[in-house]
Amino acid sequence: MQDPVEKPQGTPVPKTRREFLFHTSAIAAAGSALVGCQTTDNKKTAVATTAAAALAAPAVHAGENNTIQVALVGCGGRGTGAAANALSVKNGPIKLVAMGDVFDHRLKGSFEGLSGEHKARMDVPEDRKFIGFDAYKKAMDSLRPGDIVILATPPAFRWVHFKYAIEKGLNVFMEKPVTVDGPTSRRMLALAEDAKKKNLKVGVGLMCRHCHIRQDLFNKIQDGQVGDLITLRAYRMHGPAGSAFSTRKPDGQSELLWQISRFHSFLWASGGCFSDFYIHNIDECCWMKNAWPVQAQASGGRHYRGDNVDQNFDNYSVEYTFDDGAKLFVYGRTMPGCHDEFASYAHGSKGLAVISSNSHTPAKSRIYKGQKMVNSDIVWKAPKDEPDPYQLEWDDLVDAVRNDKPYNEVKRGVEASLVTSMGRMAAHTGQIITFDDMLNSKHEFAPGLESLTMDSAAPLLADANGLYPIPQPGIKMHSEY
Ligand SMILES: NC(=O)c1ccc[n+]([C@@H]2O[C@H](COP(=O)([O-])OP(=O)(O)OC[C@H]3O[C@@H](n4cnc5c(N)ncnc54)[C@H](O)[C@@H]3O)[C@@H](O)[C@H]2O)c1
Repeated sequence: MQDPVEKPQGTPVPKTRREFLFHTSAIAAAGSALVGCQTTDNKKTAVATTAAAALAAPAVHAGENNTIQVALVGCGGRGTGAAANALSVKNGPIKLVAMGDVFDHRLKGSFEGLSGEHKARMDVPEDRKFIGFDAYKKAMDSLRPGDIVILATPPAFRWVHFKYAIEKGLNVFMEKPVTVDGPTSRRMLALAEDAKKKNLKVGVGLMCRHCHIRQDLFNKIQDGQVGDLITLRAYRMHGPAGSAFSTRKPDGQSELLWQISRFHSFLWASGGCFSDFYIHNIDECCWMKNAWPVQAQASGGRHYRGDNVDQNFDNYSVEYTFDDGAKLFVYGRTMPGCHDEFASYAHGSKGLAVISSNSHTPAKSRIYKGQKMVNSDIVWKAPKDEPDPYQLEWDDLVDAVRNDKPYNEVKRGVEASLVTSMGRMAAHTGQIITFDDMLNSKHEFAPGLESLTMDSAAPLLADANGLYPIPQPGIKMHSEY
């Protein structure tokens, strides 16, 4: 099976901080230690650091009692789900000890939701529940080095929160996307290196990469079982979802908090529905191709807007091109009454692979000989029972923390986020956008997020009619709005 990150075998398992320090010294004495690795175009790349750096790294395991403490920053739907996955790992004691959000009601709802099934693994008294734009700091201050913080706010805040987690010596689970523009992508790549230097373990919520069935499929594709990959296709087409559509802000509400609560509507907060919804399908296709595309051209438009004033298009079509000329076509639509599809496919010279069939899980991956999806041509299919990839990504992260395995998914997460932004920018500007254009883009959607307070102005302002700037392909050609 293809591991999403390299996991050296035969590493002894330190159980306590003392054993960990002894273990680290032993590695250091041997001359060098592997403390970071990531897949670059899925080719495994190990980064060796010096023995001195390994010694200087903080203890990355849980404290003397061997319990890993967890803090949740961003107590919404996914943050609550990620915390539930964290508290469901089987490999050793783990406990939720702090929570932070900008909305009291979100934190309360999350706490109550988790308190049902997971009460025994929770110790979050009132004085470790934090509200406000500095809640992330207070929640992380409640942890010890080597504990885990979950970053599940809208992605705009990811680099701010990740930076503080690194300063505090914390291991991290962060949700996708991890960036939505060029400047913050460059910042996150630099932070990824800082985290590696400190031997911190960082998981990124592209959980499909942890799906065992897709890992099997990846190996079969790399073995040539569908021949050379020529075309990939991904679809995320359904009715309105999340907060992708927004009407004008109600009077009396803070513009900043309203935009945050409707983050799929605003490009600065989320990259819009494009980045938030399509990244998984784009990422799983690029994984199977074992490469990132070098450029994108795209189209899209706004059709039935009604009173909605968000920045999204209602539909998107992207043609990504890989370095070998192969194509990935991505279709996104948020429109009721149309054909719905939520799936990814890879066409090779010998056959067709279904990467995912309907939503993220179960993947129901399969391979057909030839290009027609008929049962008689199935040559391999996933077994009926598929483990939940949202749980697998946590099992893998905690395993890496407990057993000091190299684990840093940030570079791959940034690359997936960038490739997604590249398609979005191509649609929004009407221009061909290369990977390098996106990476080097100077348009930072929301500078100054690190110093927001409850009274700050929103990064995007409405005009006198309550309307926000929207993408205008062919008119606004160098930035998305
Ligand atoms: N991997 C997946 O399949 C998956 C699924 C859903 C969401 N997500 C990702 O998870 C993230 C959150 O999405 P969601 O659906 O849970 O949204 P959500 O609105 O339900 O939750 C986000 C939470 O973060 C809080 N928040 C916002 N800004 C904050 C800040 N600066 N400090 C502290 N708290 C803050 C919000 O109040 C809210 O409670 C997004 O990046 C999204 O793309 C991933």
